[in-house]
Amino acid sequence: MRNKIIAGNWKMNLNLPEAQQLFNTLNEEEKPEHTHLLIFPPSIYLAHFSAAAEAISIGAQDVSAHEVGAYTGEVSAEMLSAINVDFCLVGHSERREYHQEDNVLLAKKVDRLLDNAISPVYCCGETKTERETGTYQQVIRTQIEEGLFHLRADQFEKVVIAYEPVWAIGTGLTATVIEAQEVHAFIRSLVQEKYGVAIANNCSILYGGSVKPTNANELFGAPDIDGGLVGGASLKAASFLQIADSF
Ligand code: PGA
Repeated sequence: MRNKIIAGNWKMNLNLPEAQQLFNTLNEEEKPEHTHLLIFPPSIYLAHFSAAAEAISIGAQDVSAHEVGAYTGEVSAEMLSAINVDFCLVGHSERREYHQEDNVLLAKKVDRLLDNAISPVYCCGETKTERETGTYQQVIRTQIEEGLFHLRADQFEKVVIAYEPVWAIGTGLTATVIEAQEVHAFIRSLVQEKYGVAIANNCSILYGGSVKPTNANELFGAPDIDGGLVGGASLKAASFLQIADSF
């Protein structure tokens, strides 16, 4: 059975006391039996939280594409690994858009992470125009092929994919279950073509984009949706835990 994952992307939110309080509440929770809880706090909090994490896993929001050296402001995968970070976002649409990260760069980030035994959570998704003009499958295919399909099968097995339609992120608009399921099944079919049925069946594909306690249950009921990457609703313990309880 593939992993069910509920991941919270805190982005650049929560001051230290707020972050600490949210972390404490989540960490004291009884670990859900079939669901993996994961948070992506701002990088400055990672070392502190990963040292104390029990019920939840800790992921980074970004990593350098370089191994080491004169790259001011960057954090390497080796540094993340040394403080027991197990996951890292790659290719979030905010990084693609505001930091001009393209698939070639993202493939390098994926490589650095896997070299250091960190699982990439690789984000893909189309803009509103790409959905409206019907090019979204091609966009997603290119994002996945260029960012991930250079990997060997044993490397790909450590990757989690997140489908996040850009038009649904932070907007309150959510893809319908039918829209989301269609893309998730499409992504799984790409993985199957490339790596075979067993790896495709084991690959966790998360949905992201205005996931809330009110829509999580319906979304997670779809056969190819294996959890959520949650932004806004992950900033409050009650809504995040309600979402985690929605399988
Ligand atoms: P949202 O963000 O849940 O606030 O839409 C999701 C994300 O950006 O990962």
